[in-house]
Amino acid sequence: MTDFNFQPGEACAAELDARDPLAHYRQRFYVPRIQGEECIYLCGHSLGLQPKSAKAHIEQELEDWARLGVEGHFHGKNPWMPYHRLLTAHTAELVGAKPVEVVVMNSLTVNLHLMMASFYRPTTQRHKILIERGAFPSDQYAVKSQIGFHNLDPANSLLELTPRDGEFCVRQEDIQEVIDAEGESIALILLGGVNYATGQIFDIAEVTRAGHRKGCIVACDLAHAAGNIPLRLHDWGPDFAVWCSYKYLNGGPGCVGGCFVHERHSHSWSLPRYGGWWGHDEKMRFQMDPEFRPMAGAEGWQLSNPPIMALAPLRASLEIFAEAGMEHLRAKSRMLTGYMEFLLRDKESTDYSIITPRDPEQRGAQLSIRLSKGRPVCDRLIAEGVIADWREPDIYRVAAVPLYDSYKDVYRFVQRFLLALS
Ligand SMILES: Cc1ncc(COP(=O)(O)O)c(C=O)c1O
Repeated sequence: MTDFNFQPGEACAAELDARDPLAHYRQRFYVPRIQGEECIYLCGHSLGLQPKSAKAHIEQELEDWARLGVEGHFHGKNPWMPYHRLLTAHTAELVGAKPVEVVVMNSLTVNLHLMMASFYRPTTQRHKILIERGAFPSDQYAVKSQIGFHNLDPANSLLELTPRDGEFCVRQEDIQEVIDAEGESIALILLGGVNYATGQIFDIAEVTRAGHRKGCIVACDLAHAAGNIPLRLHDWGPDFAVWCSYKYLNGGPGCVGGCFVHERHSHSWSLPRYGGWWGHDEKMRFQMDPEFRPMAGAEGWQLSNPPIMALAPLRASLEIFAEAGMEHLRAKSRMLTGYMEFLLRDKESTDYSIITPRDPEQRGAQLSIRLSKGRPVCDRLIAEGVIADWREPDIYRVAAVPLYDSYKDVYRFVQRFLLALS
């Protein structure tokens, strides 16, 4: 359904919903209600909705804990010792990786630090970190503090990619130019898979090729990409990637994050890393050996035994992803976002403009709308049951999520948005 001729009236939304092969997945999620009515929930880029199956998955583990106590590690329905591996195959599939390259652990910023401890090894010649200007603040704090840990100064060691004057997104040719010009002094390139403010997709394959040609480590923050767009991390080849699971992945608030380490580093025993018993060779974990021997692959970066109650709802959500298929979800996502853009652009005015790229290849589900009337519009819409969010100084972010949003949601959102502006 990619060549659909969108029309402005509500009948178009009804027709699109009627033809939507994924429409039934909405029933598998709880949609929040305001004043008895289902919200128009366009905030999956911040916190995804709860899969109805999450509760049963958590209850199963609570039950085994009650029934078995510590023995649940070995004799539960899903023994906790290898529980995190129940998420490995689906996770690998979602990010286009081999199972050995991924692990579900910690949270995003923690994983970013763990990865940088291993992969950011500045030298006198090669000490810079390249990020996008306006990267998510946690990433900025993380890279600046890593630079500081090596007694370097961000004023000299942090490079930022800047959009051209009057533009909001960074052009691929400008990224290329910076890497060509500065590559020999760059130790690490860290870009978002999808920028959190603009919704722009970065070409990870291209950036990785350009960075590796210059000898840089290349990494990505996939917070806004995982579960949003199809990824092929193994083939694209970045050295590492990190993501959270509470946005498009619907794992629940503060859910455990994910980490990818490319297979080429699976046996890099000489890489310095922080050690912890869960990263230690599992065959010898309980021999209480004082020497740390990391496991091969991403699992060798684990520190602690994983939080089973937090993994359980993510497992429920990953099962739904596996069933629906990322390619199908992406096809619907392109249609939903294209439809929203069509309705919004029809009425674009001095009150608002969309800063997300127009090219569907360069964006995921999110549209970022610059609003001259500011936050009160967002707050008013929330009170009226339209859940989206606001990012300072002037960005209203909306994302129609293919697993649980409908074309009717999009239509009703645009009507209420235009009314709120009038
Ligand atoms: C792009 C990006 N990076 C990092 C983070 C921080 O994630 P966490 O709190 O899981 O460390 C977020 C959170 O929203 C984010 O959007």
